[in-house]
Amino acid sequence: MIRTQTGTLSPLDPASKEPFYRQVYVRFRNAIADGRLAPGDRVPSARALATELGLSRGTIEAAYSTLIAEGYFQPRGQAGTFVAPGLKPPLSAPATAEEPLAYAPGTLNMRPVSLLPLQMGLPALDAFPRRLWTRLGARCIRAAQIADMVYPAAHGLAALRGAIATYLQLARGIDCSPSQIFVTSGYRNTLELIVHALLEPGDHVWVEDPGFPPTQLLLQHTNISVTPVPVDEEGLIVAHGIATASRARAAIVTPAHQSPLCMSLSLPRRLSLLEWASKNKAWIVEDDYDGEYRYVGRPLPALKSLDRHGRVLYAGTFSKVLFPGIRLAYLVVPEAQIERFERISQIFSGGGPQLTQAIVTEFLTEGHFARHIQRMRKLYGERRKAAATGLERILGAHMRIEPQPGGMHLVLRMRRGGSDRSLAERIRGHGMYAQALSDWSIGRQVEPALLLGFTNIDSESTAEKLGRRILKLM
Ligand SMILES: Cc1ncc(COP(=O)(O)O)c(C=O)c1O
Repeated sequence: MIRTQTGTLSPLDPASKEPFYRQVYVRFRNAIADGRLAPGDRVPSARALATELGLSRGTIEAAYSTLIAEGYFQPRGQAGTFVAPGLKPPLSAPATAEEPLAYAPGTLNMRPVSLLPLQMGLPALDAFPRRLWTRLGARCIRAAQIADMVYPAAHGLAALRGAIATYLQLARGIDCSPSQIFVTSGYRNTLELIVHALLEPGDHVWVEDPGFPPTQLLLQHTNISVTPVPVDEEGLIVAHGIATASRARAAIVTPAHQSPLCMSLSLPRRLSLLEWASKNKAWIVEDDYDGEYRYVGRPLPALKSLDRHGRVLYAGTFSKVLFPGIRLAYLVVPEAQIERFERISQIFSGGGPQLTQAIVTEFLTEGHFARHIQRMRKLYGERRKAAATGLERILGAHMRIEPQPGGMHLVLRMRRGGSDRSLAERIRGHGMYAQALSDWSIGRQVEPALLLGFTNIDSESTAEKLGRRILKLM
């Protein structure tokens, strides 16, 4: 047994085929799962543990990075590293060193709590105008009245709903009134409201395959039957959905940039999806999580802008255009559904934080938002090119990088096949971040590929350095 400052870890096995970083990782997970380490416990520093175990500091850091990426550990700067306070042990059955990590959707943490190189789904956090944000925040705090300290409106701050409606009209071609807008705490919360308002247990819903795993998971947990519909270079194959489940109650799509393959839903497909929905009285959920970020031509208008029969529910989020820690998103409902959503939102919404909503309102109405998006679109265009060029130079013989017109990540196809899951896991085990396309597919085998975020890659040379680290793991 290895005694550490925080308790006991079972000994490492030098004869095992499992690398040491992975053995350390597994032992910490097990210690948390069986209660030897409790949420909030401080864990030894990587340096101290490395000395204690006679391993290199890099080995321990690789294990810690994975534990941080998966939400088990929380780094707190100088104060040290802690078992994440929110964890509810036992998290899962203890892992064994031999057990390969099966990242079925639901076990893979889509939202690591730290910023790792190549992490997907994060905007360029270094480029966020924090000074301006602080100024607006201070102004909003100073302006707050006693009346602002009561419960906030469940549907969202009236001023913010108005500002979002104006923005959507100008930027996404969506004609809607503030009363059609419901502010939520993120896409999952948006989807939850839609499920409660419009669907019933047992209903069938089309989802894109491959597609964003949380969508599928949330539907399954609310007893909705998921119908995977494949995508091709024009996006969702609507005819396939009609042929296999024409009576589905809804379709959830990412028309601007299909998640994760980034193609746009073509106009003929948009029209046939709308026609199917209006004929069958089905709903379309348009998940427009990063529609603003298109690098070839102008951003496409939203599918919602073509909705003549009130079938489209538009889900927007501030996670990509501001930052995900803000936890603010919104839903636009068809006019005829406002009352129904008002009822449901009274039941299920706690209401978003008043102060955050007030700051975002200022950010929008003073024009900072439009400017920020414009700057980010230019920056991401540059970073996308730098990341693709640098990674291609190092990994080109093994990986084919697909040029996507938009989005915030790259898709790297593995030329020689192999397991994208285990490669992605090795990458995560070495302090970087990657997702495997296979983890995003539902019913069909996909060509193995890595999904790598480029928005925080500042130069070609950074991309090359990361490429070299990945190359060693192949
Ligand atoms: C496909 C997709 N939809 C929606 C979201 C937004 O989720 P949230 O609002 O919870 O940040 C994301 C974020 O990564 C996403 O990838």
